[in-house]
Order: sequence, then C-alpha cells, then structure tokens
Amino acid sequence: MSFIDPYGRKIDYVRLSLTDRCNLRCFYCLPAGSSDFAPSSSRLGLDEIERIMAAFAKLGVHRVRLTGGEPLVRKGVADLAAQLHALPGIDDLSMTTNALLLERHADALFEAGVSRLNVSLDSLDAERFSRITHGGDLAKVLRGLEKARAVGFYPIKINMLVMKGINDDEVVDMARWCAAQGFTLRYIETMPMGAGGSDAVSRYVPLEVVQQQLEQHFTLVDDIASGGGPARYLRIVGTQTQIGLITPLSRHFCASCNRVRLGANGTLYMCLGNSHSADLKAPLREGISDDGLMELIRQSIALKPWQHNFNEVSAPVDRAMAATGG
Ligand code: GTP
Ligand code: 5AD
Ligand code: SF4
Repeated sequence: MSFIDPYGRKIDYVRLSLTDRCNLRCFYCLPAGSSDFAPSSSRLGLDEIERIMAAFAKLGVHRVRLTGGEPLVRKGVADLAAQLHALPGIDDLSMTTNALLLERHADALFEAGVSRLNVSLDSLDAERFSRITHGGDLAKVLRGLEKARAVGFYPIKINMLVMKGINDDEVVDMARWCAAQGFTLRYIETMPMGAGGSDAVSRYVPLEVVQQQLEQHFTLVDDIASGGGPARYLRIVGTQTQIGLITPLSRHFCASCNRVRLGANGTLYMCLGNSHSADLKAPLREGISDDGLMELIRQSIALKPWQHNFNEVSAPVDRAMAATGG
C-alpha cells in the first residue's frame, strides 16, 4: 500500500522517539538545567508503540529509525526493536544514538535486528566533547563505537553538527579519523530548534564552506546515497569513505521528504521544522480499532506541510530537538 502526503510524497520512513530523556546535555539540544522532561506516565508504552508501528507498516512504511532523546536510556529497547523488526514490511531498522550505552547494548540490538547506527559525535577532543555535552566521556563513546563495529553494525555513520567557533576547526581531522576507522561521516548544518534556536543562527556554517575546506585536502567525487535520509554523499577518492552533507538550510531537501516523527508522548509530528501534529495516544487509550488507527494516521498525513520554516530566523521551532531526536 502506498502512503502519500498532500504533495504527492511517499511516506515510508518513521523516526520513532522512545524518550525525550538523555544521558548527555548537548548545549544545542538540551540547554543546561533543562529539566522539563515529560513524566513517564505521559509516554507511550512499548506495546502502544508496537501497535502504532504495526499500523504504519500496513500503510506502507518500511523504514524505522529509533531516536530519543537518547533511545538507549529507555528500558526494553532491544525487545521493542525485535518486535518492530518482526513486523511484516519493516526491512530497515536503524538507530541514532550518542553511543554512550552501546558497549552494553550493541550485542542485543544487533541480534534484535537493528542494522544501521548513526552516532552523534561533534568533537574528537575529550575536553571539548565534555564542554559540548556537559560532562560527556569521549572515551566511553569511542568504546561504544568500537563495540558496535566489532558486533557487525554497518554502516556506522558519524553525525557532526558543524558549529562556528565551537568545532569548525575539526572538520578535516574528523574526516581523516572516520576514514581510518571505516565510518561514514556526515556534516550537518545547525537548525534553529527549541529554546536555544535563535543562538543556533550565529553558529550556523553553510556546508559549502566545509566542502571547500575538505577539497584542499582530499579529492571528492559524488557517490550513491546511503540510507533513506536527506544526506547527499561524496566519496574520498582512493578510499571507500563516504562523506554525507545534510543541508537543511543552504539546500533543503523537503521536496523529497519521506518521513514523519512519532514523539515519545504519542504525538505524530508531520515535519521537523513545523508544529503541525496529531495526537495518537488519546485515541489509542480510548480504544480505537486497528482500522481506525490506520485511518487516523492516514488523515493526519493531510496536515503535512510542504517544507520547514527554519529560514525565518525570527520564528525558530518552539520544540526541543530532543522531543523528536532530529
Ligand atoms: P539515514 O539516512 O537513514 O541513515 O538517516 P538520517 O540521516 O535521516 O538520520 P539521523 O538521525 O542521523 O539524522 C541526521 C541529521 O539529519 C539530524 O540533524 C536530523 O535532524 C536531520 N534530519 C533527518 N531527517 C530530517 C528531515 O526530515 N528534515 C530535516 N530538516 N532534517 C532532518
Ligand atoms: N540542528 C541540526 N542537527 C541537530 N542535531 C541535534 N540538534 C540539532 C540541530 N539543532 C543532530 C544531532 C544528532 C541528530 C539526530 O540530530 O547531532 O546526531
Ligand atoms: Fe520533511 Fe519538514 Fe524535514 Fe523538510 S524539514 S524534509 S518537510 S520533515
């Protein structure tokens, strides 16, 4: 079955946030001191998530990405992953994580059918990493990555949010390191989300600048896309190393948008850069049937806007990145 939005885009990818909590506090995502996490009672239960995802799968969704906050702080994540993996139609189960808990969970996740991992890592300098994440332990992240690679996750993609004056001097080092480790590297333009949204504007680096910097050190050629997301890929000539560019601001990719986001609280968000949403939790708890749930999701997709409004600097989206995990 095809699942089409009002602009004719096929929706086949759900980003599923398992919790808005995180064991790090990256300053651009969860400003220090923020403690307004939703109470766990307002969260969907794992059985409720499975039911919703079964409805999505019947509608034609085949890719699911587990996100947070940090998805690995949610208890039972590997069991849920196994249930989602078993849903007919789901053929791509992936996760975006900060890797802190991977050392402990990588085996179980892989066994459960999660095959692709994207890992947020903005600096390879332990002190800087700790400053950005408010106390994060870089060595532990690196051990998590090591474990994930040993277990067989492939590809492993490193997400580096490029921020002026924060880590933009590490762009080339990060590429060299990823090439040596066998990881794909994606650079990301910073989007103005949540309370710190307007500050993000001053840290914004268009990725054209990053590409020019890289070209002074490497020869880059266009490469085939990897995964189902918005990155454009280049390859470092003479290596298998892919470099992805995620450019929501300088060259947005909304025309080929293929996704919606389910928040941990049961809200279905139609777009990362807009507030259009629908509540699935209340109807679920009021006893909606499976067919009713599918119909509700189908109708909700009618709310999906054409594109984000991040470029309207005065109106950053008033929702923390942690609510949807990007
Ligand atoms: P794959 O390509 O399937 O590996 O995943 P992905 O790149 O879509 O997922 P990931 O969680 O690694 O996200 C990387 C970056 O892309 C994050 O900064 C996300 O916020 C951003 N991103 C992902 N999807 C969208 C989208 O639909 N719109 C916008 N504007 N940004 C997105
Ligand atoms: N803009 C762009 N990407 C962001 N991420 C978190 N906050 C932002 C932002 N403001 C990225 C993280 C993570 C991914 C899911 O989203 O680096 O890797
Ligand atoms: Fe889709 Fe919105 Fe992302 Fe654009 S910003 S790609 S419309 S989710």
